[in-house]
Amino acid sequence: MLGSFNRRLRPALKQAQTLCGVPWRLQTQIRACAARPATFQLLEDCLVVDYGGTPMRFNYVWLRDHCRSEASFNSKTNQRNLDTGSIELTIRPDNTSVQDGHLILTWPGGHVSKYSLSWLAENSYEGQKQNAVQPRILWNSDIYKNANVPSAKWDTFMSCDDEVKKFLQNYLLYGIAFVDDVPATVEATEEVTQRVSLIRETTYGRMWCFTSDFSRGDTAYSQLALDRHTDTSYFQEPCGIQVFHCLKHEGTGGRTLLVDGFYAAEKVRRQSPENFELLARVPIRHEYIENTDNHRNHMTGIGPLLNLYPWNNEMYLIRYNNYDRSVINTIPHDLVQRWYVAHRELTTELRRPENELWVKLTPGKVIFIDNWRVMHGRESFTGLRQLCGCYLTRDDVLSAARCFGLRA
Ligand SMILES: [Fe+2]
Repeated sequence: MLGSFNRRLRPALKQAQTLCGVPWRLQTQIRACAARPATFQLLEDCLVVDYGGTPMRFNYVWLRDHCRSEASFNSKTNQRNLDTGSIELTIRPDNTSVQDGHLILTWPGGHVSKYSLSWLAENSYEGQKQNAVQPRILWNSDIYKNANVPSAKWDTFMSCDDEVKKFLQNYLLYGIAFVDDVPATVEATEEVTQRVSLIRETTYGRMWCFTSDFSRGDTAYSQLALDRHTDTSYFQEPCGIQVFHCLKHEGTGGRTLLVDGFYAAEKVRRQSPENFELLARVPIRHEYIENTDNHRNHMTGIGPLLNLYPWNNEMYLIRYNNYDRSVINTIPHDLVQRWYVAHRELTTELRRPENELWVKLTPGKVIFIDNWRVMHGRESFTGLRQLCGCYLTRDDVLSAARCFGLRA
């Protein structure tokens, strides 16, 4: 399925602006035909292009490295042909011009590079700095409920790509998405996940199915309540997507708790930037040690609780699992105290009742949870409760979304 997405669906490209020619080595006002002004200036260490009001600075080696000519770049495979190691680190263009919305550089030796100004704008550091990699709607319980996000329906989900696209769009925006009317079997659950991505096999298996039988050395396999947490924080790369399907429950309780970790963390960022910064900088170890008759595991994952893209400070991963957080032994005592203060503030936000979304998972309702963003937990329950699910590989979910033209 993903192959066909690639062939049929491409991200929309911005229209190139048509500009007039300009002289070399002068800061020049270029009047676009679409009335979008641009200027450029060649400095000692970079080429400055002011296009649409935002000055962008391009390093000269970068410009040569990102040449899109046939000799430098294979546009069929989208791979670089050019050996970056062969570029002179002091390279400067011999000549520069702008024609028909393109910047044209002639390098020593005669090689010509041509870049559309819109491509440069899209791929400049300054452009990336202002843009979210993945636009999101952060939520508390009311925000999510008031959004009335529709669930996908099994029949259309399994037969119509457009339904999968809508589902993925909701998933990307909110970090959770549902498919209803799925047959209450492990096989159907597996089928529905495979419309989206590949299953990530872990120590818990490919598709797992569990009851409160303590078959594994983990609290999940009990009837106890589970506080909000992210799963597999003890993996160096925590599982990207968690899928749950409650196949049967004859008893009371057992509602699923969902909390948007990014909503809570953004609150901390606004209230106490220094605490936010600490949670984003101090590496913490999570660990899973299992020693039962049938299973022996010792996993460790190391990283800060909050993970940000450094160029735009956008959050992309939260590790929050108080059960699995390991010994803190890599930071000095005074920093430990400050870290606990920051951790407490985040915990307080995560535990605000207004941030808790409680959902009763019933047979037929499959939930997909962004395990890098949304925490899950559950209330205690009585009776037999049979849950199945799996983890999905994050790369493949995001790839499917991008092939639909979604930003992820
Ligand atoms: Fe869990």
